[in-house]
Amino acid sequence: MPRTRKPDVCQPTGSAELAMLDVYMPMMKSSAIISAGRLGLFEALVEGPLTAAELAEKIHSSRRGTTMLVDFLVAIGYLEKNGESFANTASTRRWFTSAGQVDYTPGLLWTHEAWAMMGSLAETVRKGEPEQTLWEAMIEKPHLGPLFSAYMGAFAADLGPDLLRHVPVLPGYRHLLDLGGSHGLHSIRFCQHYPQLDALIVDMPSALTETGPEIEKAGLAGRIRLSPGTLQEHDWGGENDLVFYLSVAHNHSADENRLAIRQIGDSMNPGGLLVIHEYVAETSLDALNAAFRLTLLLETGTQTHRHEDYCAWLKAAGFSAIERIDLEPREKGSLILARR
Ligand SMILES: C[S@@+](CC[C@H](N)C(=O)[O-])C[C@H]1O[C@@H](n2cnc3c(N)ncnc32)[C@H](O)[C@@H]1O
Repeated sequence: MPRTRKPDVCQPTGSAELAMLDVYMPMMKSSAIISAGRLGLFEALVEGPLTAAELAEKIHSSRRGTTMLVDFLVAIGYLEKNGESFANTASTRRWFTSAGQVDYTPGLLWTHEAWAMMGSLAETVRKGEPEQTLWEAMIEKPHLGPLFSAYMGAFAADLGPDLLRHVPVLPGYRHLLDLGGSHGLHSIRFCQHYPQLDALIVDMPSALTETGPEIEKAGLAGRIRLSPGTLQEHDWGGENDLVFYLSVAHNHSADENRLAIRQIGDSMNPGGLLVIHEYVAETSLDALNAAFRLTLLLETGTQTHRHEDYCAWLKAAGFSAIERIDLEPREKGSLILARR
């Protein structure tokens, strides 16, 4: 009798032979990885492999629980076992420790919070909007703002080199306006790279709690200022040369973006550059796009927008030379550059 190939139950494909495995295994996979991040388990292995007993002691956890967690993390490819010792795989070290290229541990800590919020997805779908937006939740639970900003900071560390490569900063540019600038890492990076620039970061107070100290640490307190508040209440001024609208448009409705882009245009010097970073609605990453749109419905009640929408808003605001750059890998989204 021919043997049926067993489905890989760790992949959420909808094709598992036992229907509940397709629900249960992705849940356990997410839960185990998030828990490893919360316990500092991946970071504890940065110095080298450890036995389950040594690891348990280092992360202040029970030997029994640690053994069960590491066994599962080996099974899903996040750890390797050699004899009695456990080590991070190359990919875990690269993405979830301080020794790697980018440490997405803040993303694990944020996903722990998002996990609880996902519990109200059915109610959100029924209503068509969230009972409470993320921004409202951040006022009620002040620990959420810094966690979210730290997660955005990890993305920014990943995106930073792409931005530097693709954003042409002319010698005459002086003033950078970083809208929804959060952690401040993009402003810091550009001010470090271009000594003629100063920057103003606009964001809600909940997003800026750690930004001042980060700017101090970078020695840029004299060149980067913070403006706590919403874009809707921002006093725009008129001297901006470079404006960042990075991953902010998907937090706003079409009308809000149309208005913001017009106000951005009015606030810019001729020849200035607007840089938008976004996950454009109609790319080929269907599952990721659809998942992100569902997350936005739940968290902020907003959505991603189409490339044509950005072009229409930009042209109506007097921008020209609109250029779209799709980043590699495609999961990094797209840049839209436009000249004033
Ligand atoms: C997805 S994060 C992106 C952060 C950063 N620009 C980056 O690319 O890493 C969106 C940011 O926009 C801010 N934001 C959203 N709506 C806003 C509004 N109406 N006024 C000011 N900031 C807003 C959020 O607080 C958050 O910091």
